[in-house]
Amino acid sequence: MGLVKSLRCPKCGNEAVPRTAFQCAECRSVLEIQLKIDHLTRGDFEAMRRSRDRSIWRWFDFFPLEKRSSIVSLGEGDTPLIHARRLGEKIGVANLYLKNDTVLPTGSLKDRSNSVGISVAREWGFKTAAVMSTGNAAASVAAYAAAAGIESIVMVPKGTAPSKILQAQAYGATVIVVDGDFDNEVAKLYKSALNEFGWYDCLSSNPYRDEGKKSYAYEMVDQMDGRVPDWVIHPTAGGTGIYAMWKGYKELLSLGWIERAPKLVAAQSEAAAPIVAAFEKGSTKIEAVVARETIAESIQVGNPVSLGWRALASLRESGGTAVALSDREILEGQVVLARLAGVFAEPAAATSVAAAKKLRDRGVIDRDDIVVCNLTGHGLKQPDSIQVSETEFAPIAPTLNALREKIGRSPE
Ligand SMILES: Cc1ncc(COP(=O)(O)O)c(C=O)c1O
Ligand SMILES: [Zn+2]
Repeated sequence: MGLVKSLRCPKCGNEAVPRTAFQCAECRSVLEIQLKIDHLTRGDFEAMRRSRDRSIWRWFDFFPLEKRSSIVSLGEGDTPLIHARRLGEKIGVANLYLKNDTVLPTGSLKDRSNSVGISVAREWGFKTAAVMSTGNAAASVAAYAAAAGIESIVMVPKGTAPSKILQAQAYGATVIVVDGDFDNEVAKLYKSALNEFGWYDCLSSNPYRDEGKKSYAYEMVDQMDGRVPDWVIHPTAGGTGIYAMWKGYKELLSLGWIERAPKLVAAQSEAAAPIVAAFEKGSTKIEAVVARETIAESIQVGNPVSLGWRALASLRESGGTAVALSDREILEGQVVLARLAGVFAEPAAATSVAAAKKLRDRGVIDRDDIVVCNLTGHGLKQPDSIQVSETEFAPIAPTLNALREKIGRSPE
């Protein structure tokens, strides 16, 4: 049984009784879940590794859920860890691994969070789960809520392209389009609505849901047979991934199941890089920025208000770093990833590959380091990021001559 010991404020140390609050009554920081895991043994770990259940729920004892019967799972987790030799050769990293989360049930990393989040909602008896999002989180919450028999409500700003919210709609979410801006009016209405209607919060302000991405750490240790990568690079927006991976690795360290943890790297788009800016300044505070347009739409977050500062601390504690990428670098990353490794990821997800290249070029990453790039969203989430010239798909006459002319090749 996953046992919650307490909820503690990471800023002022206040404790809260489990189930009563998500945020510190004094400073409003998102509380941190303290789990009882000291009793777990290496034998337990081996049993978890061998479990027939390949979802994140093999690691049940590390999640804040009381009963296994509350689990809402679509088979998320145990995503491939691919040794990408051709891509590694191209960027000069011999041991380049890709953690391919594009194959998760709704096509993005959000399923790690929402499987845990919605399971908790079900255990606590919530009827409605809410989220404000224009993409991956909306689809994921909607899918898990559908499987749980819980209603889902998604708030989006006016002007959001229908293609972004179609997937959530397909799973049966109620999509509310709000006349206003995401970070201001929509956020305000979302908060008031949670209070007014008592809906379950599926954002990173919910510490239970945030535990889900710890599964990256457990899976990687399992998949590498106890070895630990030197670097794990994560496309970063709100900071949950970096924060949760570090929490997961620290748990494994505290149990003595690993001897060291990887250095974590946050990869952001230059257009929305408040965590990189704070890291480079040596600051412990994140200054919100107005996010500019970027091809990496899914990580276009200028104010990582809930967990940004926790992610920043995790980068430093792990000895890692933070990198900002231009749209050109991101698109290049997306192309080489698809063409040299066979994985089609959305641009936001390809920031990890672009960051690996940049850090290798700068000499921060060595040729023989073990590097894992998290690939956090499927390319089909944003297919129009692929540039196709008008003539490329122009029909040819159905003749060999026309074909020869088109491809310009002789027989092999
Ligand atoms: C594709 C993709 N990658 C990465 C992230 C990063 O999220 P976080 O920093 O909260 O782990 C998100 C979500 O915002 C996303 O949709
Ligand atoms: Zn506090």
